[in-house]
Amino acid sequence: MPEAKSTSTEIDITRDRLAELLNEDLSREYQAIIGYVVYSQVLTGAQYMDIAAQLEIHAKQELDHALTLSRQIDYLGKMPTVTPQPVRTSKDPKEMLRFDLDNENETIRNYRDRVRQCEALGEYAMAEQIRQILVQEQDHQIDLATALGEDVPNVNSGPKGRKKGR
Ligand SMILES: [Fe+2]
Ligand SMILES: [Fe+2]
Repeated sequence: MPEAKSTSTEIDITRDRLAELLNEDLSREYQAIIGYVVYSQVLTGAQYMDIAAQLEIHAKQELDHALTLSRQIDYLGKMPTVTPQPVRTSKDPKEMLRFDLDNENETIRNYRDRVRQCEALGEYAMAEQIRQILVQEQDHQIDLATALGEDVPNVNSGPKGRKKGR
């Protein structure tokens, strides 16, 4: 029997594998909730007032994302995880915002893959829910990049933002 073809983008996945990947997404959502709850309250100074208020809104949106993902994982017949990814902390406001932005970039990469994977399995409604989450994650990314005075990073879709023509 021929070996199963390995696909770098994991488009060709099973429902079980999708549930596993959604659980990884859920761990990242928990991480985001914790990060935004803490950072929104400890960021002080006039120049950070706007972004601190935005981070508070992010915290609530991340909770909604976690609820949506848990529902989908349950629908796939699996148990939603209870473990967050580790949260990095810093006393330096810029560094805090940098951690948030890095996490959002990673999250966006993953959700772009997840939309394709859901569609490959014919789970179009689930793909739509992930798309709606993705829209908000991209807003978070813009808020953070703006607060850092940077351009919004180009997070290429596909594994680890692989560059074209490599
Ligand atoms: Fe989120
Ligand atoms: Fe986010």
